[in-house]
Amino acid sequence: VPWGKALTPALLRAALERNPDVKAVFLTHNETSTGVTNPLPELAAIVRDHGALVVVDAVSSAGGLPLLTDEWGLDFVLSGSQKAWMCPPGLTITAIGPRAWDAYQSAAYHRFFWDFEAARKAAARGMTPTTPPLTAFYAFDAALDMMLEEGIDRVWDRHAALGDRTRSGVEALGLALFADPTTYSNTVTAVTMPKGVSAKDVTGLMKRNHDVVVGAGQGYLTDAMVRIGHMGWCNEADIDGCLVALGDAVEQVQRGTN
Ligand SMILES: Cc1ncc(COP(=O)(O)O)c(C=O)c1O
Repeated sequence: VPWGKALTPALLRAALERNPDVKAVFLTHNETSTGVTNPLPELAAIVRDHGALVVVDAVSSAGGLPLLTDEWGLDFVLSGSQKAWMCPPGLTITAIGPRAWDAYQSAAYHRFFWDFEAARKAAARGMTPTTPPLTAFYAFDAALDMMLEEGIDRVWDRHAALGDRTRSGVEALGLALFADPTTYSNTVTAVTMPKGVSAKDVTGLMKRNHDVVVGAGQGYLTDAMVRIGHMGWCNEADIDGCLVALGDAVEQVQRGTN
């Protein structure tokens, strides 16, 4: 899949036809490195048709983008507290369905740290298998209360609105969006830097002059892209401030006054 594009159902179907023995497919719901959201419900349906388990990296989607684990037939979903859940890093959040538990029973490999049965048994006693990171749990509890109070549909709508606001603001600055327009993510926006403008210089100026922290690109795009996260604890004023900082930094680099 080329960077900036989504995995298409046709490509996935063809890959499974070429590899009929596949038992599980790992799908990334939201591609944080390129600002792309994959069409998860369609992809999951193809994997299930094939009889394989649907394993989903929802690290930068869960809590920010619609994610219907049961309705979409997802068997194993994994997320991290540091993204749309508004918490410090440290907690893995999972949803594990009955087919995944069946696979657990028949899996023969050794396990210890990632033994979900140990976690399930401990959870039944309100515990974790090892020392619980209590401060992270308190933060997560507070975050969940905030999300419940807002209502999950409104949380998703807020992310959609923030995504729109970020993208139109970026375009109003005369900058280009990296992702294919049909796949835009509502939790992270990837902005292509104009020719000759270093993303490292831009992110450095945004931090130094505006106290705004954004990511540069990854891999071959490290210095060619700036990524704006707008998930979790984020509102319109944050986006507007970030866009001012971005426009200012790009202009300074272009003028050579940085
Ligand atoms: C889509 C996605 N998957 C996995 C990870 C890795 O998460 P962690 O650094 O918590 O292991 C990230 C982190 O940014 C991510 O965005």
